[in-house]
Amino acid sequence: MSALTLASAPEDATALEAAEAHHARMAGELAGRVAMLLTAAGRDRDAAERIRAGLVAFCDREILPHAAAEEAVLYPAARRLPDSRLLVESLIAEHSCLTALVDSLRTPSDATGAAADARSLPLADPDGRARHLSVGAAVFNIRLAAVHLGRHPAVRLLPDPGEPELLAAVELTRPPRPEDGRLSEPDLYAAIARRHTSRMPFTGRPVPDPIVAELTVAAHAEGARLHTPDVVGIRRLLRLTALAEARNHAGPARTAETRSWITPPGTDTPYGIPLTALGPADAAGRLPMRDFTGPPRAPHPPAPRFERHVQAALLCTSHDRPEDWLRAGQALQHVLPTATMHGVRTSLLHQAMEWPDLRAACGLGRRRCHPQVLIRYGYGPDGGRTPRASAQTLAPFAELPDPTRSLGDSGPAA
Ligand SMILES: Cc1cc2nc3c(=O)[nH]c(=O)nc-3n(C[C@H](O)[C@H](O)[C@H](O)COP(=O)(O)O)c2cc1C
Repeated sequence: MSALTLASAPEDATALEAAEAHHARMAGELAGRVAMLLTAAGRDRDAAERIRAGLVAFCDREILPHAAAEEAVLYPAARRLPDSRLLVESLIAEHSCLTALVDSLRTPSDATGAAADARSLPLADPDGRARHLSVGAAVFNIRLAAVHLGRHPAVRLLPDPGEPELLAAVELTRPPRPEDGRLSEPDLYAAIARRHTSRMPFTGRPVPDPIVAELTVAAHAEGARLHTPDVVGIRRLLRLTALAEARNHAGPARTAETRSWITPPGTDTPYGIPLTALGPADAAGRLPMRDFTGPPRAPHPPAPRFERHVQAALLCTSHDRPEDWLRAGQALQHVLPTATMHGVRTSLLHQAMEWPDLRAACGLGRRRCHPQVLIRYGYGPDGGRTPRASAQTLAPFAELPDPTRSLGDSGPAA
């Protein structure tokens, strides 16, 4: 399935709109069923089994026949056209990823792992490092929310060696502790909801040193480091990012995986990047913003020029173990809303981190600097809205009180 639409006649546009709406409905139902399976897994074996069987039946009934019909009816003609051949090949690669995922779901004992795989990125993130960063970021948000609600968040990273998928446990207790004070800034909490990745050109106005220093302190507080290279260092990091971006689009399977993160307009899912949150390419070719859709790019306004002097910082850790990735995720999520608090926009350039040789080359020649992500920052327009997963969706990872009820006098929350 794809979110790309290209139409030249009104009747084509109508047909494409209908196809898009159908894709959106299927993607929404699929995401809902996967979320239900992950929630039930490990808690209620019978319910998980029922949901697994329903998910496989849904894929057999709707998704796979739809993909097969597209391949039989739509693709042969498009494949003969030079402009769309690459696109069709990547769509077919996407379909074979889908078939493999559904096949792995057919065995009941593999169901939870396969459902988790459906959200993982085997090509871009084979060792799950980026997934740990995301979970670390969510942990930081939980810590901020807990402090905001007058609780102390006791965090244990990788708390159970027997359960490697349990990446973190957060216990909320009372009263708050003195060390929670540094997370009690109300504006920082408010910035969680306000912050959005901005993939638009920035103005180039330099971010003042005291603000950059505050970002550095935020990363440090979580056990990571934020390096702010000079112009030459940034140019080098951007060159490595551009190399990675080119490699990412050299094979249709990788493009198909990246494209699977994008959700079409109207999709009701707490995950993914809406098409509307993507940005343009840099007309000057200086800034290798990630092209999530692959060639041909999703329709965008004409490419503008991005800022000439890019401001960027490299988030690093001294070690490179799963617990360091979780710390880096917390550091990332401490840095980003801190920037938002000061009106500074951010976007991530993670492409080079997805290729071991390029990631190592980003280490700036420093010993004990394991690069985790490159953060671009500056002043400019806000980014497009993206969905936020509810606390209930996070339930398999952390047991949270119902956020709609006041924590009031309910005692320590597990
Ligand atoms: C580990 C990781 C890597 C990411 N890499 C990129 C990237 O290379 N390019 C990009 O535009 N966004 C990247 N993102 C940002 C996500 O796409 C973004 O956070 C997501 O779309 C949610 O949007 P929001 O930041 O507006 O909440 C990355 C996020 C994480 C956690």
